[in-house]
Amino acid sequence: MSGPAPKRGRGHWGSQVGFVLAAAGSAVGLGNIWRFPSMTGQNGGGAFLLVYLLCVALIALPVMLLEISLGRATQRNPVGAIAAVAPGSAWKALGYLALVTGLGILSYYSVIAGKVLTYLALYLRKLFIGEAVTYSGATLEVVVYFALFLVLTVLVVSGGVQRGIERWAKILMPLLVVIMAAVIVRGLLLPGAMAGVRWFLMPDFSKITPKVVLNAMSQGFFSLSLGMGAMLTYGSYLSKKDNILSCGTWVVAFDTLVAVLAGFMIFPAVFALGGDPAAGSTLIFQVLPKVFGGMPGGVLVAIVFFFLLCVAALTSTVSLLEVVTAYFVDERGWSRRRSVWSIGLVALIVGLPSAFHLAGISPWQSMTLFGKTGFLDIMDFVWGNLSLAIGSLLLCVFAIAVWGLNRAADEIEIGAPAFAALRGAWVFFVRWVCPISIAVILATKLFGLG
Ligand code: PHE
Repeated sequence: MSGPAPKRGRGHWGSQVGFVLAAAGSAVGLGNIWRFPSMTGQNGGGAFLLVYLLCVALIALPVMLLEISLGRATQRNPVGAIAAVAPGSAWKALGYLALVTGLGILSYYSVIAGKVLTYLALYLRKLFIGEAVTYSGATLEVVVYFALFLVLTVLVVSGGVQRGIERWAKILMPLLVVIMAAVIVRGLLLPGAMAGVRWFLMPDFSKITPKVVLNAMSQGFFSLSLGMGAMLTYGSYLSKKDNILSCGTWVVAFDTLVAVLAGFMIFPAVFALGGDPAAGSTLIFQVLPKVFGGMPGGVLVAIVFFFLLCVAALTSTVSLLEVVTAYFVDERGWSRRRSVWSIGLVALIVGLPSAFHLAGISPWQSMTLFGKTGFLDIMDFVWGNLSLAIGSLLLCVFAIAVWGLNRAADEIEIGAPAFAALRGAWVFFVRWVCPISIAVILATKLFGLG
């Protein structure tokens, strides 16, 4: 999607491949490689993996098709899409929730992405001047790299060069999988690694609690960029010829593959090196440097890995910023430049406390809310967990009550004749399975009913 998106004659992807690349770029990111392992580590290993896979297949995949179809049917951003279906209704609030959530996630996601960028810089220094790799966490460093990452995102979205990046992603994302495979092999060769494989794959059913289920479901939404209009906005650039069913399924499959690979990359190494799988949001940063440290050619592998992870994170932050930008451009008539820089500035301000948390500054590091400690973790819970789940739930209700599931199913069927056979099942899932399970899972955790 390049340049401003005018209301009439909005651009389309050159081909279906354009959408798949953009959507996969949005989906694959820190959610797979940073968040999925920390979540799995804190929520019981194999049990979490099992619940996660079930949630992705039974809840997230149907919601994915719904979100893309609403985008293509209306050809708008989240607020515009809802206004197009239900003009002047209070459902507009759902569109605004999507925008606020996108901004909220962008703010702390860029802080973590900044940390990945810092590691890239540290390994480059190691290569060129032999300096030891130590992450200082100094306030200035954290803030500068965070800001740098935001500026990169703003430049990409404002220049309308996303297409270019996505072409690159087509080569780089498979390369990321290859590098991950190399790191996995290295980890598996360490003595004691098998305990980690068992822990990741064997579910201990006693570990499945309401908290674990909520985390697994929300992780599915987060990892697939659902519940805040990213897939809706990208879907709005699809044409009627394109196949929503195959695109959506492909994105879900690839994203899940990368998450599972990330588990194989982290947990065998955690067990072999005597780490704590429940370390939380610092897990991958504790484990990976140790793995690279003991690996032949480890510095080079680390540089390539952190570079690719930066690219993966960038295609995700680009989608977060794009959603909010599309609203200001389409609905408010702002220029693309003005929109991206203003939103970027707001994300910088909102993200500062998350950066302070990472830099160890109180009270940001020690505050607690919803059982989470530290500002970044609280933001991640509120926007990454709750808000995406609520957004997905409301989207289902909106489709059932206002837009009409038949209309949605018709939209999917255009360009995907094979969907005719699945239509009944899909409608059943979006009408019953998705909303009820999301509502029950949210309520059980939030109101302690479980
Ligand atoms: N799915 C992205 C990731 O896994 C994060 C994201 C969430 C992007 C929500 C857009 C919307 O890294």
